[in-house]
Amino acid sequence: MSKNILIIEGSPRKGGNSDILTDQLIKGAEESNHNTEKIYLTDYKLNYCLGCYACQKGPCVHDDGMDKLIDKMMKAEVIVLATPVYFYSMSGQLKTFIDRTLPKYEEITNKEFYLIATAAVNEGFALERTFEAMRGYLDCLPGAQEKGTIYGVSSWLKGDVKRTVAMEEAYNMGKNI
Ligand SMILES: Cc1cc2nc3c(=O)[nH]c(=O)nc-3n(C[C@H](O)[C@H](O)[C@H](O)COP(=O)(O)O)c2cc1C
Repeated sequence: MSKNILIIEGSPRKGGNSDILTDQLIKGAEESNHNTEKIYLTDYKLNYCLGCYACQKGPCVHDDGMDKLIDKMMKAEVIVLATPVYFYSMSGQLKTFIDRTLPKYEEITNKEFYLIATAAVNEGFALERTFEAMRGYLDCLPGAQEKGTIYGVSSWLKGDVKRTVAMEEAYNMGKNI
């Protein structure tokens, strides 16, 4: 069955390592006849959540396109969260995006999630804190299921990831969604 896959790219570095891995996933997914859409958070100038809870009574105080991104999440069956590891957590871009889903996060229901992180370090366990931070978000979404993770280690400079097994893992992940 064909699925709608939304890829949320949290790196500001286009053509960087997580971008390359999500392209691999997309290649596999399209070969399996799924529909894919990748959004680069760096293309949006998302404001921080103010914690004002205006969204409990009406629209978010920020008018910066986030509502459209939330709609895309609600329409997708599968969501891929991709991030570089920045000081052993996700990028600020991805965290800001996650916080801004506050107005409707309880309506982002029953999604399948795939998590991708890239880092310079070569030990996979060092990425656990980053995945745990993303899992904290998944725990808040009704019916969210974590279906897979890619540890894009040993990847510092743009393109380093091409020399790692993560390339094949990301392709196979897409193929088997
Ligand atoms: C602000 C910043 C913080 C970083 N922190 C870490 C880190 O804690 N551990 C690590 O292994 N690599 C760290 N890196 C390296 C990146 O994770 C690495 O270059 C990664 O491949 C970037 O992914 P991208 O190409 O998708 O942006 C950091 C890079 C930057 C710019």
